[in-house]
Amino acid sequence: MADVIPPLLPDPSPVLSIIDGLRISKAVFAALEIGVFDLLESEALAASACAQRLHLSPDGAERLLDACASLGLLSKHDGVYRNTPLASAYLVRDSAHTLSGYMLYSNRVTWKLWGNLEEAITEGTPRWAQTFGQQVDLFEYFFQTENAKRTFLAGMHGMGLLSSPAVARAFDLSAHQMVADLGGGTGHLAAAICEAHPHMQGIVFDLPTVIPVTEGYLRRSSAHDRIRTVGGDFFHDPLPPADLYCLGRILHDWGEAKIRLLLRKMRDALPVGGAVLLAEMLLWDDKTGPTYALLQSLNMLACTEGKERNLDEYRALFESEGFHAVEGRVTGQVLDAVLARKAA
Ligand SMILES: C[S@@+](CC[C@H](N)C(=O)[O-])C[C@H]1O[C@@H](n2cnc3c(N)ncnc32)[C@H](O)[C@@H]1O
Repeated sequence: MADVIPPLLPDPSPVLSIIDGLRISKAVFAALEIGVFDLLESEALAASACAQRLHLSPDGAERLLDACASLGLLSKHDGVYRNTPLASAYLVRDSAHTLSGYMLYSNRVTWKLWGNLEEAITEGTPRWAQTFGQQVDLFEYFFQTENAKRTFLAGMHGMGLLSSPAVARAFDLSAHQMVADLGGGTGHLAAAICEAHPHMQGIVFDLPTVIPVTEGYLRRSSAHDRIRTVGGDFFHDPLPPADLYCLGRILHDWGEAKIRLLLRKMRDALPVGGAVLLAEMLLWDDKTGPTYALLQSLNMLACTEGKERNLDEYRALFESEGFHAVEGRVTGQVLDAVLARKAA
C-alpha cells in the first residue's frame, strides 16, 4: 500500500470561519436594522417586492436575502422569501423571545467600541471617549435617549429570558421569602424566581429611569402581582429589605472596589440565613473557555470596568466580604448561577 503524504498545512477552515464571522454578524445586523425580518414575518415576498417596500436597491436586497437564507434565517422557494422559525422566534422585534434588542445595540454601539479593541487591550480601559467623544459609562450612554434605553433593556431581556428559568431553579431557594433583584432591568430574573417559587415575593430595584420599562415587562409575568419595583442607586441608596438578593449581570459590570461595596451592603442588609444569587457567565477553572464567556470578558473590557470570572474568583470575593458556602452551577444556558450565604 502506498504511503499517505501528510498535509503540509493544517486545515484553514477555522481561520476562514473567523473572517466570515464578522461578515455574518454585520449582514444579519443590517437585515435587522433595515426591517427584513419584521416585514417577512407578516408576508412572504420576492426580493424585488422586499426592495420596494424597504427602499433598497434590488441587487442589494437580493444579495442580503440570499445570504440570510444560506444562514438558515430565511427560506426561499420559487424566488419568494419568508422567515424560518429561528428568525420568527429571535429576530422579529416584537416576538416574546426576541434577541433583536441585543443585536441592535451590538450594531449601534458594541460594534463601534470593538473597533478600538486593540487600544482597550493595550491600555486596559473602556473605549467610550475614543469611540464616541464622550467620557461616559455604559448606562449613561444607553440611557441618554428613550429609544436607546429601551433597545438596551430589550436586549438584556431577550438574552436573560434564555437563562433566568434555569438560574431560578439552580439552587433550593425554598427557605427564602423575599427576593430583591438589584439592577434587575426588566425583572426577568425576579419574575422567574417568583414563578418557580409561588410562596415568594419579589422586588425589582433599578435606576429610576428604568422603572417604567420594568413595570411594562413585569406585567407579562404570571407572578406580577407578587413583584413590586423600587427606583434607586445601589451604590448610594439603602437596599430594599430582602432575604435573597439576586444580581443578573451586575458584578461583571464593575471594578473590584464597587463589587466589594455592593457585597458589603448586601451582607449588612441580609438577615441570618440570607443569601445572594448571581446570574453570570462562569469561566472554566483554567479560563480557557467557554469561548462566548471569554469574548464577553473582552466586551466588558471595551465597555465597562468589569470582567468575567471563574467560580474560585467569585468565591474569593464573597468569602472576603462575609459570605460562605459559595456554590456554582453551570446551567447550560448563557448565564450560570452562583449562590453565596451570609456567614454567621
Ligand atoms: C447589564 S444590565 C443587567 C440587567 C438585568 N439584571 C439583566 O440581567 O437583564 C445592568 C442593570 O444595572 C442597572 N444599574 C446600573 N447602575 C445602577 C445603579 N447604580 N443602581 C441600580 N441599578 C443600576 C442598569 O440600569 C441595568 O438595568
